[in-house]
Amino acid sequence: MTFLLDEAERLGRDELEALQLERLRATLHHAYENVGHYRAAFDRAGLSPDDCRTLADLAHFPFTTKADLRDNYPFGMFAVPEERVRRIHASSGTTGRPTVVGYTQRDLDTWADVVARSIRAAGGRPGQKVHVAYGYGLFTGGLGAHYGAERLGCTVIPASGGMTARQVQLIQDFRPEIIMVTPSYMLTLLDEFERQGVDPRTTSLKVGIFGAEPWTEEMRREIEERFAIDAVDIYGLSEVMGPGVAQECVETKDGLHIWEDHFYPEVVDPFTGEVLPEGAEGELVLTSLTKEAMPVIRYRTRDLTRLLPGTARVFRRMEKVTGRSDDLVILRGVNLFPTQIEEIVLRTPGVAPHFQLRLTREGRLDALTVRAEARAGAAPEQRAAAAASITAAVKDGIGVSVTVEIVDPETLERSAGKFKRIVDERGGH
Ligand code: DLL
Repeated sequence: MTFLLDEAERLGRDELEALQLERLRATLHHAYENVGHYRAAFDRAGLSPDDCRTLADLAHFPFTTKADLRDNYPFGMFAVPEERVRRIHASSGTTGRPTVVGYTQRDLDTWADVVARSIRAAGGRPGQKVHVAYGYGLFTGGLGAHYGAERLGCTVIPASGGMTARQVQLIQDFRPEIIMVTPSYMLTLLDEFERQGVDPRTTSLKVGIFGAEPWTEEMRREIEERFAIDAVDIYGLSEVMGPGVAQECVETKDGLHIWEDHFYPEVVDPFTGEVLPEGAEGELVLTSLTKEAMPVIRYRTRDLTRLLPGTARVFRRMEKVTGRSDDLVILRGVNLFPTQIEEIVLRTPGVAPHFQLRLTREGRLDALTVRAEARAGAAPEQRAAAAASITAAVKDGIGVSVTVEIVDPETLERSAGKFKRIVDERGGH
């Protein structure tokens, strides 16, 4: 099957590392020479780009954070004259200034290439139709998926997000083989298929490429069974490029291969910043190896994962992201991620895959309520049993007491894109 792989996917590990080192050194020079922020940061650390002689030397260089990007709003992190920037994207963020990113023509080409490679790894082939339901606009999801699908030689259906009933209509009429969408919005589409009386297992879809938010193996099983498709994970972030930094291969579904010829990964201890050995869980840190408009050096993603050796590809894998350190809930001293609740809720009979977490404050203590929706037709006894079973599973598995409410079908808010799992009603936090 080697004919299905591009040149970089056919490199040996040594060749790949030699290529990475060459590109890393060039990137450090490019950043130092053209971005005031990097020059100042390297100077403060007493480092010159030439101090990076091996890939491991990167660990001496300073991290870059979202705050650095915000402080240089809007274009201060750009390393090329503004007229060479062909496109700008931005991520809204919850407060304050958005994070702005820029791309040269070559960056856009690289991006299309890595997304094309991702769709191919997911099982997509030239000539197939790709329904893109990631949002188009400043968000990188829609346009990132779009140009990658075109680059692979697919027919793109640029549906964007929203107008759920119409999405279902388009899928039935245009018969795409592939859908690219957030996993939570895929569940919204699932409801709509059923509402329209269409069996979701009968659509033309064969593969779903899901990302932009964390999702679990339990969610994969739910989506694969209910739609009769393969569900694979795509990862990325605007600061580093957009979707297509890493992709799960459909033949193994064992975590995401990082396209290491363009992005160099490290996993660090989120508190000390120390680089952790392969296999240890920590925060993913990414360095771009080929970006022109906005190189990023050791960008702190806040995403928690571990690095693993390659399987279906020469590139190292990252395990499915457990969560962002920002989504970590500390409840009476116990750490909890929404994905841990997702695993439990989706395993519970009688409960639909829709849930929300409500954080409140009772006196001086934080309290968490898990609201999950009953499946249509679940009897009252089954609902009570489900509530008891989720409460017990959270207590036993995570070690903390939560309140569980099983609410009526179709009452919780549905995702329209990236879904906000946690509703924080603590105030003052
Ligand atoms: O979400 C890019 C993207 C679009 C990726 C479409 C995949 C598909 P941002 O809006 O900048 O970019 O958000 C990036 O989303 O740091 C993670 O916390 C989260 N994220 C993205 N992909 C995954 C994934 C896009 N597969 C942030 N699993 C990242 C878990 C993900 N979290």
